[in-house]
Amino acid sequence: MKYELRPTADGSYTLYSKEYDECYHSVRDGALTEALQKHVRPAFSLVKKPHLNILDICFGLGINTLATLHYFEHQSDVRSIAIYSPELDSDLLSQLATLEYPEALKPYLGVLEKLIKHKVYKSDNIHIELFVGDAREYVRGLAGIDIVYQDAFSPKKNPTLWTVEYFTDLFACTSEDALLTTYSIATPVRLALDEAGWKVYEMEPQGTKKITIASKRTLPLRPIDMEAKRKRSASQPLRDSG
Ligand SMILES: C[S@@+](CC[C@H](N)C(=O)[O-])C[C@H]1O[C@@H](n2cnc3c(N)ncnc32)[C@H](O)[C@@H]1O
Repeated sequence: MKYELRPTADGSYTLYSKEYDECYHSVRDGALTEALQKHVRPAFSLVKKPHLNILDICFGLGINTLATLHYFEHQSDVRSIAIYSPELDSDLLSQLATLEYPEALKPYLGVLEKLIKHKVYKSDNIHIELFVGDAREYVRGLAGIDIVYQDAFSPKKNPTLWTVEYFTDLFACTSEDALLTTYSIATPVRLALDEAGWKVYEMEPQGTKKITIASKRTLPLRPIDMEAKRKRSASQPLRDSG
């Protein structure tokens, strides 16, 4: 078995991956809390559009995608959403039906089932695509993305999804006022985002650790002084060449 079930602080479950030696969510913050507080709420509160194109990197247990549906239906005035999500691990997807999901996400388990079966879900105001394959390849074919949930495993375990070249591809496939949310506050990640053209900010959502927000436009958030980091930090931006 490649995965082990782990309870998290808010009562929701996550998995531990033996392959990556890492959990899919922060056990300390809680899987659902992390999805809502580090990705969904900041993104929806900072990008105001009637339709949102969201790139969910990567699908994993689908908590970020399902939490987005929950937030979209209950707390937002957004009229329609499209979610695009790559996931490399087809074994994981085939096991999601046996997982225990938090109560708030149970109304969306039918969507999850359809997504896993058909790799696409459509209703009047929701469009979701699940791509089984490499996120690096997938993002090169996208355009007009408004929000990126950057939720890969850590840079140490999942290095190809944190590099300057990767963030440059994200910059290219996003709209002019796009925003990226991530749990990582590591300096090499922020340097990579900065070099790829993103403005880098920090937020401290209620009940979780600090996060990084990257944006194409100026935001009313605490900016990170990237010039000072470039000059004074011993860290280097992460690159494909390692
Ligand atoms: C931290 S988990 C994502 C958790 C997910 N956001 C959720 O809400 O459940 C990271 C995921 O990235 C996937 N992954 C790692 N490298 C990938 C790649 N190059 N392309 C697509 N998926 C990848 C892993 O299989 C894993 O499911």
